[in-house]
Amino acid sequence: LAGDEVLVISNREPYSHVHGRQGIDVKRPASGLVTAVEPVMRACSGTWIAHGSGDADRETVDRDDRVPVPPANPSYTLRRVWMTQEEEQGYYYGFANEGLWPLCHIAHVRPVFRSSDWDAYVAINQRFADAVVKEARTDDPVVLVQDYHFALLPRMVRDALPKATIITFWHIPWPNPESFGICPWREELLEGLLGSTILGFHTQFHCKNFLETVDRYLESRIEHEVSTISYGGQLTKVEDYPISIAWPDNASLPPVAECRASVRAELGLPPNQLIGIGVDRLDYTKGIIERFQAVEKMLELHPDVIGRFTMVQIAAPTRSTLDEYQNFETRVKALVERINKRFGKPGYQPILLKAEHHGSDEVNRYYRAADVCLVTSLHDGMNLVAKEFIAARDDDRGVLILSQFTGAARELHEALIVNPYHIEQAAEAVHRAVTMPEIEQCERMRSMRDRVKDRNIYRWAGHMLLDAARLRQRERTMS
Ligand code: G6P
Repeated sequence: LAGDEVLVISNREPYSHVHGRQGIDVKRPASGLVTAVEPVMRACSGTWIAHGSGDADRETVDRDDRVPVPPANPSYTLRRVWMTQEEEQGYYYGFANEGLWPLCHIAHVRPVFRSSDWDAYVAINQRFADAVVKEARTDDPVVLVQDYHFALLPRMVRDALPKATIITFWHIPWPNPESFGICPWREELLEGLLGSTILGFHTQFHCKNFLETVDRYLESRIEHEVSTISYGGQLTKVEDYPISIAWPDNASLPPVAECRASVRAELGLPPNQLIGIGVDRLDYTKGIIERFQAVEKMLELHPDVIGRFTMVQIAAPTRSTLDEYQNFETRVKALVERINKRFGKPGYQPILLKAEHHGSDEVNRYYRAADVCLVTSLHDGMNLVAKEFIAARDDDRGVLILSQFTGAARELHEALIVNPYHIEQAAEAVHRAVTMPEIEQCERMRSMRDRVKDRNIYRWAGHMLLDAARLRQRERTMS
C-alpha cells in the first residue's frame, strides 16, 4: 500500500484541546482504540477524522477544521467533525452507548433503542462519510473505519467512492444472532457494515457470530471456508485481527525498584506491602464489582493477608451523564466503603479507589509497582490493559489475573485465567498470585512478553493492510 492515501475514522479523537488553568492543554483519552491505532497513524501519516470534543478544539484547528498532531511533533493530520450537544446525545450517548454497547457486550444491562437516537446516529454517520469524501484526494483511498459508532459509514463511503478500500474494525464483541436480533435496525446496521472490503474483529468467535447474524437476517451469499460475504454486488472479507499495543521502550520510566518504593510511599503503605492494580474506565462491563468482591473473599478466606494486601483501582470517569454509569459508580463506591469498613483498621484500607483520569506514565508506574494486575471484565473485545501490564514488566515479575471473557485470554494462556462471576475462584487466584514463587512468575511473564512483543500493533495493522493490498491487487488485475 506504499504511496496510498490512508484515512482513519473514529469517534474519539487521539488528542483533544481543553481550557486549563494556564491556557490550552492537550489531553489524551482513556480509550483502547486510541492506544492501539495512534502508533499506526504516526507511522503512516495520513488523516484521522474524529469528533472534536474538547472545549478548546475549535480554537486550535485551521479553517478546514484540521490540526497537525501529535502536537509536540506532528506526523499526521487530525480533522475534527463537529456536532451539537443534542446530536451527541442521540448518536453517541444514546444509540452507540445505550444501544449498541450493552447489545454487543451482553452485559446484563438492557439496551435502549430510541428512534430519535437512531436518527442522530444516521445523520452523524453521514456527516463523517461526507468528511471522508471531502478529505480524500484520490478516488481509491484506504479508509480505516473504527468501531461501533460507525456501522453505517462503510456503505455510505462505498456509494460515494466505489473504488475505495474500506477496512472496518469492530473493537467490541459481536454477539450471537438472537441477542443482536433485538435491535430494531439490525438489517440497516448489517447492510452498512457490508459496504466494507474487510471487516475485522478481535477473535474468530466474533467473526463466526457475525457470519451467523448476516445469515439469519440478510439475503446474502456466505462462503464459510474463505470467510467472505457477498451482498448487493459487494464482497466483504470477515477476519480476526487481534489488536495489540506498540511494544514500548521503557527506558524513560524509573526502574522497577524505584516505582515500587515511590508508589508505596505516596500511598502511605509499608515498603513490603503487596499491591494489586486495576486500571479501567469506570464501566459496568469491566467487572470492577466482581473484582472487589474477590478481594473481599480472599481476605475472608486468608486472614493472614489482611493488612498486607492493598487493591489499588485506577478508574477513569466515562460516559458519566448516562444513568447506568452513574448507578454503577454509586454501587462501586458503596462496595468499597463496605469492604474497607469490614477489613480496614487504623492506617489500613484494603481498597484504594482512585476515580480519576491518570496519564500513561503514571499508569506505567503503578503497573511496575504492583505484584498482581487484575483484569476481570465480564465481556471485552480484547482488553489492552492486560497487554500494557505485561509490556511494563521488563523485570519479568508480577502476575496477571485475566478474565476468560476477554479476547486477550485467547492469547495470554500463562495468565491466571478466571471466571469473574465465580468469586471464590477469583479470590483463590488473587491469593495464588500474591504467594507465587518468583521463578514461576518469571516463566509465565517471559513467555507472555515474548508473545505480546511479537504480536504487536504493527502486526495487527500490517495483517489488515496486507490483506487489503492483496484484494486491491486482485481487483486491479480484474478490471
Ligand atoms: C472502548 C471503545 C472505544 C472507545 C473507548 C473509550 O474501548 O471500543 O471506541 O473510544 O471504549 O470510550 P469513550 O466512549 O470515552 O470513547
